[in-house]
Amino acid sequence: MNSSNLTRRSLLLGGAGVATAFALAACTGGPNLLTATSSPVTAAETARRRTGRTTRVQLTAARTDIDLAGRTASTWAYNGEVPGPTIRAHVGDIIRAHVTNQLPDDTTVHWHGIALRNDMDGVPPITQQPIGPGASFDYAFTADAPGTYWYHPHVGPQLDRGLQGPLVIEDPREPLSYDHDWVLVLDDWLDGVTATPDQVLADLKKGMKGMGGMGGMGGMMGGGQDGTPTRAGNLLTGTGSNLLGGDAGDVYYPYYLINGRPAGDPATFTAKPGQRVRLRIINAGGDTAFRFSVGGHRLTVTHTDGYPVNPVEGDSILLGMGERYDAIVTVADGAFPIVAEAVGKADRGFGVLRSNSGSPTPTANGYTASDTSPVTAAVLSATSADTLQRRRIDRRIDIALTGGMMKYDWGINGKAFDMNNPLDGAYTVREGERVQLTIANQTMMWHPFHVHGHTFQLDGGPRKDTAIVLPHRSLTVLLDAYNPGQWMTHCHNIYHAESGMMAVLGYEKS
Ligand code: C2O
Ligand code: CU
Repeated sequence: MNSSNLTRRSLLLGGAGVATAFALAACTGGPNLLTATSSPVTAAETARRRTGRTTRVQLTAARTDIDLAGRTASTWAYNGEVPGPTIRAHVGDIIRAHVTNQLPDDTTVHWHGIALRNDMDGVPPITQQPIGPGASFDYAFTADAPGTYWYHPHVGPQLDRGLQGPLVIEDPREPLSYDHDWVLVLDDWLDGVTATPDQVLADLKKGMKGMGGMGGMGGMMGGGQDGTPTRAGNLLTGTGSNLLGGDAGDVYYPYYLINGRPAGDPATFTAKPGQRVRLRIINAGGDTAFRFSVGGHRLTVTHTDGYPVNPVEGDSILLGMGERYDAIVTVADGAFPIVAEAVGKADRGFGVLRSNSGSPTPTANGYTASDTSPVTAAVLSATSADTLQRRRIDRRIDIALTGGMMKYDWGINGKAFDMNNPLDGAYTVREGERVQLTIANQTMMWHPFHVHGHTFQLDGGPRKDTAIVLPHRSLTVLLDAYNPGQWMTHCHNIYHAESGMMAVLGYEKS
């Protein structure tokens, strides 16, 4: 079966050689880069392991109204649900998604974390033209690694509406055993309540000077003090967090949701005492890190961003936007709070885990995880099967995250991504290379950094596709270039990305 694993493994072989650095000048790409429809893209798809089965999905992106504990919010969503339908397929299946756009705007669907064929990655104008209002598009791709993924548009700040849904790739030889498999989508919500994401982006782009009250700047400017945030219109100041090394986020959200439900009408999960549950936790937020916990329970973290890790136990898990963690819990007897603390924002998402119908329902604010440090990628390591083999580094790429909140000029290497000239400033690799990416955060704020189409490995750590880079820190990751095409790499704070913290990683023609 498994030809893609063979392909992947053979790329990974090659012994521990002397690291050779190839300096990479940021290049303009253009005619030297493979396109999304070039033959190496098709060849890589053909090499993926396949079952021959097809999973069909229909997604209609349209306006819809959702109920937030009695308050109606009009938003955009898939199939009228927030989050959108959970897509489940087996590893190696072809996923065929017929996407219809009934929105008043262009859209696409991006399959976050899947190392799929480049022309199905959903990034206009690089991998496809946008799906116009009234039009539809058929996505078809093989998902060749099991795990927890998700989907969302790649147009403007649309993902901060209700356009997001889970994508679970199941492993027919799943080594873990559990009685329930639950997906928990954590989200920060404002659409149709205080503003639209487009209005928020416009407010942010005015910069801090555009804001009235400057109260609570201490946390933001001082770096790292847990303080009290202050709302100024659609923005928040003073969201200082020691966990995130300073400013935790800049957008005010009136609600934090777990599976589309606010604390006033919480999602409830039921199991029997003693049962083992696999939680697949997805941070689908726009500007919020969540610290996730389940009152009265230890969490055994088994995966991040789809890939297995050597299990680590903890009381809570920190998730940046775009990150996923899977954890096993053994359900105790009673009713327990599920808490998604909005880090630095003095608010939380809340759900209920119930195994005893007689136990009183917990309250949203009755519990806070007591551990001083939540589980993060920093304490995890890839299982041996998913550890990249040692080999010579063929190419080193330095990515500087730049800009700041005052001018709202987030960028990469001091440059804001230009949608009209997307290959300007592109990074390039060649198929088959071992690439070392060093992501240096030169800003005063943390960024969850995401690379499309690949799963990199943190130095001695887990395989991931989205990783937190703290302020004034850098992160070194290894990536094997086995998926030709043009791939976005960007901050997964949707407002940072939209204001310019994005770039293309493109494969050179050979
Ligand atoms: Cu969730 Cu460009 O990605
Ligand atoms: Cu960012």
